Amino acid sequence: MQRMKAAAGSVLISDREIRDRVAEMGARISDDYRGRAITVIGILKGSFIFIADLIRQVDPAIPVELEFMTVSSYGSGTTSSGKLHIGQDIESPVEGKHLLIVEDIVDTGLTIARICDLLASRGAASIRIATLLEKETRRGHPLTLDYIGFRIPDKFVVGYGLDFDQRYRNLKEIRVFDGG
Ligand code: IMP
Repeated sequence: MQRMKAAAGSVLISDREIRDRVAEMGARISDDYRGRAITVIGILKGSFIFIADLIRQVDPAIPVELEFMTVSSYGSGTTSSGKLHIGQDIESPVEGKHLLIVEDIVDTGLTIARICDLLASRGAASIRIATLLEKETRRGHPLTLDYIGFRIPDKFVVGYGLDFDQRYRNLKEIRVFDGG
């Protein structure tokens, strides 16, 4: 039987670095939302581990509601298809709520821009964006990212929830994908 390769490529961000940074992001979010309830909109699938870690770093005194949206724009390649496909939509109305959209990675910004437009049209009171990663070379779609974990080079990365063709989500760290 052929042995499967254990990892995808070289480590870009270690699990320790991720843990420390996520704790800092949670502390900032707690400061910013003091006295208000947050509705976290998690963008699946890639952000599921980040969301789980991030919301546990938010002060328990702040009420946190959680909703999920499933979107895809990459198919099985390593470049954005340019088309946003919404699979599962959120279940509750967002009117009058303070939304924190949580993304795994912002590359072109297309996905997050479309989601912001959609949620704004539904009457959210405020919308902020938290992303674990932002590619430094981000093209097009000017938009403000309120909480950014790490800015990374324009490489395709996997691990800590991020996949290549549905693989490598279970890595604890983030690695540059080397083609498998
Ligand atoms: P954007 O619409 O170009 O900003 O792409 C955002 C989405 O593409 C993310 O939510 C990811 O699902 C996916 N994506 C972009 N870059 C990567 C990467 O390097 N690794 C894994 N997924 C990525």
